[in-house]
This record gives sequence, C-alpha cells and structure tokens, in this order.
Amino acid sequence: MTINRREFIEGAALVAGSVAVTGAPAHPADTAELPTTQMLVTAIVNGQPRTIAVEARTTLLDALREQLHLTGTKKACDRGECGACTVLVEGRRVLSCMSLAVMQEGKRITTIEGLEREGKLHPLQAAFIEYDGFQCGFCTSGQIMSGVAMIEEARAGWPSAATPDVTKSFTLADLSPREIRERMSGNLCRCACYPNIVAAVNAVAKEV
Ligand code: FES
Ligand code: FES
Repeated sequence: MTINRREFIEGAALVAGSVAVTGAPAHPADTAELPTTQMLVTAIVNGQPRTIAVEARTTLLDALREQLHLTGTKKACDRGECGACTVLVEGRRVLSCMSLAVMQEGKRITTIEGLEREGKLHPLQAAFIEYDGFQCGFCTSGQIMSGVAMIEEARAGWPSAATPDVTKSFTLADLSPREIRERMSGNLCRCACYPNIVAAVNAVAKEV
C-alpha cells in the first residue's frame, strides 16, 4: 500500500502526539507504529521520564522546544557559538543545538525550568535578579545553566585556562572573577551584561 505525503505527515503527528507526553517507557509496539524515519527516545527531563518520537537529525534543542514545549532554552546561533541553548545532561553543561536527541536515551536532562525547587528560584536565578545580570534576557537561561554547572566544575577541582598553577588542587576559594570570565566565555551576551553576570556567579560561588 502506498501513502501520500499528507497521510504520512498526519500519521507521524499522531504517533508523536500519542507518545510525547506519556512519560512511560517506550513499548516495543509503539516503535512498530513509527514512521521509519523516527525513533523513540526516553530521557529524564527535569525529573520526569519523557518519551518522544524523533528523527535521527533532531537536535536536543529542537526536541526540548518543539516537542516538550520547554521554551526557556533559547535558540540563537543554532551552531554552537553563543551558549544560549545550554542545558545540563547528567549534570554537565551541553550545547543542546550541537547534541542530537537520539543520544539522550536514559539521560538526566535539566533545563532552566527544572532549576527551581518548590516554587523557590535556584540561588543563581535569584542572584541574576539581584545583580541585574540581564537586559533582553535572551542569553540568560544559557548563562544560568552554564553558571550552575561551572560552579560544580570548580567545586570538583577542575582547573581552567585562567588557572595560574594547574599543579595545585583547585578549590572554590580560587574562583576569582578572572576565572569566572574564562569559564563562562562560551556564553555570549549581546547586551554586554558581563560585569553583572560575573558578580552574580561570584556571589553564589562564595555562598556554597
Ligand atoms: Fe546553541 Fe548558540 S544556539 S550555541
Ligand atoms: Fe541580552 Fe544577554 S541579556 S543577550
């Protein structure tokens, strides 16, 4: 039996719609109903299991925004240059425009929507407000996700290109504004809020 283009698209949309919000692990029968160009992926997104049907070429960024409607993660350059799309995968910062959705099977993904706890902002979200770390806000979710992971990297003792002596173990006390600028250099801000972003990250890093 041949199907025309309209029937194919309607079928694909139906399958995607039926699995996108189930939260249940994929059942083999679901896979059998998929168009051959799609596959099911289940990841833990902001603490909830989410199953979506994606094409092999679908980026994590597009899957988050278009299928899971988590639009806090921003698409700016869409080619790995600006950091606006930064999310956490297994606690590490990742450019979601440079990562494929099919690579995320079983992974823990955190987006800006998943940072607050019981209605309370993450300390770095609160610090961005307190220190005026944004103007238009388009880069802000990426900056905050990057900052959250960056503080953990520093806490774990990772040195950076700005670390004067990499033979000594790095501690959070060594996280100077210069270190923060270097470690956040993958996140661009066209509004040039850099001094305030560094101040916000610095304040939270000193608290933890
Ligand atoms: Fe991903 Fe710019 S949108 S790095
Ligand atoms: Fe506008 Fe950063 S606040 S791009």
